[in-house]
Amino acid sequence: MSMNLTQKIIAAHLVSGEMAPGAEIGLRIDQTLTQDATGTMAYLQFEAMGVDRVRTDLSVSYVDHNTLQMGFRNPDDHRFLRTVAAKHGVIFSPPGTGICHQLHLENFALPGATLVGSDSHTPTAGGIGSLAMGAGGLSVALAMAGEPYFISMPRVVKVRLEGRLTGWASAKDVILHLLGLLTVKGGVGKVFEFAGPGVATLSVPERAVITNMGAELGATASLFPSDERTRAFLASMGREGDWKELCADADAAYDDEIVIDLSALVPLVAQPHMPDRVVPVAELAGLSVDQVAIGSCTNSSYADMRMVAEVLRDKLVHVGTDTMVSPGSKQVLKMLAAEGLVEPLLDAGVRILECSCGPCIGMGGSPVSGGVSVRTFNRNFEGRSGTKDAKVYLVSPLTAAMAALHGQFTDPATWGTPPAQPELPAKAPSIRHLFVFPPADGSGVEVLRGPNIVALEQFTPMDDTVAAPVVIKLGDDITTDHIMPAGAEITSLRSNVPAIAQHVFGRVDADFVARARAAGTGVIVAGDNYGQGSSREHAALAPRHLGIRAVIVRSLARIHRANLVNFGILPLILCDRADYDRLTVGGTVTIPASSIIAGGEVDVQVEGVGAIRVRNDLTQKELDIIRAGGLLNHVRLSRKQ
Ligand code: F3S
Repeated sequence: MSMNLTQKIIAAHLVSGEMAPGAEIGLRIDQTLTQDATGTMAYLQFEAMGVDRVRTDLSVSYVDHNTLQMGFRNPDDHRFLRTVAAKHGVIFSPPGTGICHQLHLENFALPGATLVGSDSHTPTAGGIGSLAMGAGGLSVALAMAGEPYFISMPRVVKVRLEGRLTGWASAKDVILHLLGLLTVKGGVGKVFEFAGPGVATLSVPERAVITNMGAELGATASLFPSDERTRAFLASMGREGDWKELCADADAAYDDEIVIDLSALVPLVAQPHMPDRVVPVAELAGLSVDQVAIGSCTNSSYADMRMVAEVLRDKLVHVGTDTMVSPGSKQVLKMLAAEGLVEPLLDAGVRILECSCGPCIGMGGSPVSGGVSVRTFNRNFEGRSGTKDAKVYLVSPLTAAMAALHGQFTDPATWGTPPAQPELPAKAPSIRHLFVFPPADGSGVEVLRGPNIVALEQFTPMDDTVAAPVVIKLGDDITTDHIMPAGAEITSLRSNVPAIAQHVFGRVDADFVARARAAGTGVIVAGDNYGQGSSREHAALAPRHLGIRAVIVRSLARIHRANLVNFGILPLILCDRADYDRLTVGGTVTIPASSIIAGGEVDVQVEGVGAIRVRNDLTQKELDIIRAGGLLNHVRLSRKQ
């Protein structure tokens, strides 16, 4: 039977389930990655499973989020990550080496491999032909322990690329175009598989820009074939031996098809505060820009940085536009330095930041109050920049560089001739010696923990009947940033759940934590697409610590739904969307938990209102996990049996 590329990779890794769209499938996972903001918890969870050594082909622990080492917590976490990695057979990437997805693409990602990462932009590696998926830290911990990774068999959408990019349009504009077309909900349950003659016109780093922001579509993954461009990239990285050809069969079937004419694309911009609010840059001409930030896991490759340096060469950025650049890895920075491209950036008045996530996670580089920040990043949610009333616009590096020069958006028709898309050197300088490879036997390694590493609490199983008040009622498109805000102060507490839980919904409702703690239990009510955004599992773990036992919503985002299940929170969906209006804060909801069947409907009783019908889309296994009080309890139980 002919297969598309997604089906081929899934078939080669399938350990359970049928490859029918929507059916639960279990996949063998070849590689895992973690970053520090989610990694400490993933390794605490891995330790709790009692497995000595990772059972994947390759696992890497990157430190790229909280690299500034403010106070004792960040360095303590880094030391914990370094020592726990050595003990259990994980490669460690020290702070400052680069951003996890850029580094993984350069050094470890493989065509045809499965990769699960505790970061929602893990699909970046789809640019090289990996089936790469973002997951909660707990799922990654399980994959490291050799357990399968479970997903719903995705629907596969063929994105046929025709023509080639022209003028100032770039790979970023391809994915912004798709976001404008499909919205942030348009990819749920899908893999976007790129095909057609336009594919060969894009380098691996350009492909990775597109697969990176497939996460903003809510997609399970995005995938490019592995072809001669892939071979050239791997050869440049000194890894030509890792190349193999991979593509869909010529007559493969797809669930849907979209055609994009690359030659028709123009520079685009996603306006605040959602990545799908996309318009042509020309429409914003005249809008003043206070800050430009270039980098992130989306746009920090050598080619991106080089083109920015070419645009800014012998010029000065606008005096009112604070401009910063974060190269994606030390390899990128070394190449820029070797080719004399650091100097034009410095001379243009650019601030060169560390090779890390930096401003993307609010780790420095916050915009001025009420300011306009133009970023090459992937997310522009309210408050994420660290300045609550800032307005963040998402663009390509070329558009960002032009905004930096003019201090405002201008019409691309006035920009003149763009720099050429640079080729990668035949052999890029290696930074492989900077990774800390684990000893063959880690049994003698002592894991060093600071006071901020707090052992996990064991949650109680679900009672037969859950009676809990509605402790908060929210609207549509609530992100995991709304639930569990980021920023240096807060994320430094991620391995200390009682402390980080103090900040849940802190930017939405300052009284929430006190109300939830007073009730000792609670139900969250929300509208559509609850929990969209980053894979932050603390957005489920910390509410669970506060006693949250269920969410009742109109619809849920995929990764957050999985995290709710993993921590024993029941995700319930309103059968009648209008019932949302009947739920109010304070009213007790009584859920007959023991009567719930997987994929079924049930009446919940709402104080002062009466019965409200809810459904769930849980598998039997997911329901068992919730009843056990979460996945760790469930794994412990099943290992005892
Ligand atoms: Fe880092 Fe931002 Fe990407 S936080 S991993 S650069 S989305």
